[in-house]
Amino acid sequence: MTRYRFYTATTLDGFLADESDSLDWLLSQPVEGESILPYDDFIAGIGAIVTGRSTYDWVLEHEGAVEGAWVFTQPTFLFTHRRPAAGREGVTVVSGPPAAHRAAIEAAAGGGDVWIVGGGGLAAEFAREGMLDELFVSFAPVTLGAGKPLLGGRFDLELLEHGARGALLEARYRVVGERA
Ligand SMILES: NC(=O)c1ccc[n+]([C@@H]2O[C@H](COP(=O)([O-])OP(=O)(O)OC[C@H]3O[C@@H](n4cnc5c(N)ncnc54)[C@H](OP(=O)(O)O)[C@@H]3O)[C@@H](O)[C@H]2O)c1
Repeated sequence: MTRYRFYTATTLDGFLADESDSLDWLLSQPVEGESILPYDDFIAGIGAIVTGRSTYDWVLEHEGAVEGAWVFTQPTFLFTHRRPAAGREGVTVVSGPPAAHRAAIEAAAGGGDVWIVGGGGLAAEFAREGMLDELFVSFAPVTLGAGKPLLGGRFDLELLEHGARGALLEARYRVVGERA
């Protein structure tokens, strides 16, 4: 069965990025050692990708996608109200409640899992609609005081596994549900 997984990194005070979408605080961390969920193992199980607009724009700007192409091979659903200037192969532009796109996302995933790349507001939209099963977080030893939130909402989680890799603390959680 397809699982919806939010795999990400955060500051200790719960931000995915600073206010200008910089990840300098993360990219400067030493990350030697074995993860409890190595990226290569994680991505091998992913059949489809979901991203919000800021995350999509950041990836395009920083991950060196050539014109017309996208950086991931998996079919990708971009949530945005603003049509991007140019189409990207494998990227479907959608908007509105995640549940309205559930059938299409799961069909595209073809039995694999779905990676919700971010951000935290979109992940929370999925969680509220029962479409977030797991949260894997790497915590960097830094605070920013402000920025883009890890998960916008009130949710109960169950700790399944934890570890450390270089400067990062890692934790894998089951999403229990929205808090009353
Ligand atoms: N630390 C990490 O590992 C990590 C991981 C992921 C992301 N990031 C970073 O964290 C930041 C996240 O940015 P963010 O908080 O702004 O989140 P985001 O989800 O990337 O972007 C938010 C935007 O997505 C669109 N959106 C979200 N839900 C939608 C819906 N249901 N229907 C239509 N459009 C929808 C809206 O864009 P419009 O209405 O403007 O079109 C919204 O303003 C980015 O800088 C990203 O690079 C960091």
